[in-house]
Amino acid sequence: MSSTNIENTIGTVLLSEEDIQSRVRELGRELGAEYDGKNPILVNILKGGFIFLADLVRAMDVHCEMDFMVVSSYENRTESSGVVRILSDLGLNIEGRHVLIVEDIVDTGLTLEYIRELLLARNPASLGVVTLLDKYEKRIVKVPIEFTGFRIPNEFVVGYGLDYAQRFRNLPYITVLDEGDLELAESREEETK
Ligand code: IMP
Repeated sequence: MSSTNIENTIGTVLLSEEDIQSRVRELGRELGAEYDGKNPILVNILKGGFIFLADLVRAMDVHCEMDFMVVSSYENRTESSGVVRILSDLGLNIEGRHVLIVEDIVDTGLTLEYIRELLLARNPASLGVVTLLDKYEKRIVKVPIEFTGFRIPNEFVVGYGLDYAQRFRNLPYITVLDEGDLELAESREEETK
């Protein structure tokens, strides 16, 4: 089978499609048990979290509702700016409800802390967090995370929803982009402008 253009551009695979799928199924079972009978609202943080949510909810055998928040913190860079912008807020009222934040990755923790504070002010019955990836080495603020898919080293990763400059979200696995890959991605971006 010939490789696709997108596969030609990327670095070292950190988590294979099989690794991710089996861990997400486990998380779904754990969360199903935790939230059984609570009809939780899963708050998905876009854009990076959309693929994780889609797989996770299909592994959770409980009634639940979903809502979405679009936030931006990186602005096409690989370092967190520390400034979180809410581009689109929730439509559902979360007061008195069990809420689970579904994140793709926690790095410095600044984005998650900001979102937690924002949602806590709306008086949910409970507020939990599940993140697929925990890049714990660069944590700046201590923020509670109840469920974690994988703890990963301090590398810039893409795939399975995660992007670099809006690209690579549709890779079914997670891969590390090193300096060379980033330069290559940037030069290809220039070529297509
Ligand atoms: P934090 O505020 O530094 O914890 O960053 C959280 C957000 O930054 C995540 O929701 C992602 O959108 C983005 N992010 C952090 N690390 C990576 C990465 O390695 N690849 C892609 N996006 C990342």
